[in-house]
Amino acid sequence: MAGVAVVTGCGSERGIGYGTALRLGADGFDLALLDVDGDAAARAAGAIAAESGAETLAVGCDVGAAGDVSAAIDTVNQRFGRVDALVNNAGITAPTSFDEIAEEEWDRIFAVNVKGMFLVTRAVVPIMRARRYGRIANVSSVSGKRGGGIFGGVHYSAAKAAVLGFTKALARETAGDGITCNAVAPGLIDTDIIAGKVDDARREELVAGVPVGRLGRPSDVAAAIAYLCSADAEYVTGEEIDVNGGSHID
Ligand SMILES: NC(=O)c1ccc[n+]([C@@H]2O[C@H](COP(=O)([O-])OP(=O)(O)OC[C@H]3O[C@@H](n4cnc5c(N)ncnc54)[C@H](O)[C@@H]3O)[C@@H](O)[C@H]2O)c1
Repeated sequence: MAGVAVVTGCGSERGIGYGTALRLGADGFDLALLDVDGDAAARAAGAIAAESGAETLAVGCDVGAAGDVSAAIDTVNQRFGRVDALVNNAGITAPTSFDEIAEEEWDRIFAVNVKGMFLVTRAVVPIMRARRYGRIANVSSVSGKRGGGIFGGVHYSAAKAAVLGFTKALARETAGDGITCNAVAPGLIDTDIIAGKVDDARREELVAGVPVGRLGRPSDVAAAIAYLCSADAEYVTGEEIDVNGGSHID
């Protein structure tokens, strides 16, 4: 067993969280799968256990709600007694133009993408510290680096940039405890965030902007996260890995 990994936002079968959980399960992690949709988390837990052989636990949890998060991580700790890796993947977007963003929508984007990451990490770090080992991987976005997302407005870009700042600052604070903290910044990944929202012509236009010549797959992002969650990544912290097919190179 490679350890126990907590992955947030893995209920969506075509999503990055699901793909990451599947990959970590195949790499030998037992898994705690958190999603606001508890039924979807339970379905994911069953399917991923069957496919990877991992022991899985599904927990319904809104990562933006402090009470949900502390109850969920208590449940995880009671079941497994350790957390070796945390993947803060749960996220939402909205393609709203600046002039149209209402205060509630701004708050909702930040509640899930930023506060959710903070709350889950705050609950998990003491468990990692107790064993002086941890790997944290946060899911940012190319939108947070270049500004402007195709499927997200200024609130989404701001939130995903906040993920990077949080990652770097936490990396410094936890490095002495054997905990690394890194981020991945995916480009266009073919999940439900895109499916059903673009027709074939628009999809071709999007692919034309990707030097590698295709949209990304959840497994592309999962591979980068799996490295950051591995014991091998001990000397990598405060870093971000772009997974965007060359659509943004810096
Ligand atoms: N798809 C892309 O092109 C892309 C690109 C860059 C970054 N990302 C980021 O990757 C992550 C996953 O995106 P995806 O495309 O797989 O999305 P998705 O919509 O397919 O899956 C997101 C999952 O998060 C869950 N979720 C939503 N709100 C939640 C909450 N409050 N608490 C717990 N779970 C919640 C959903 O139920 C769903 O299962 C997000 O952080 C997203 O911003 C996606």
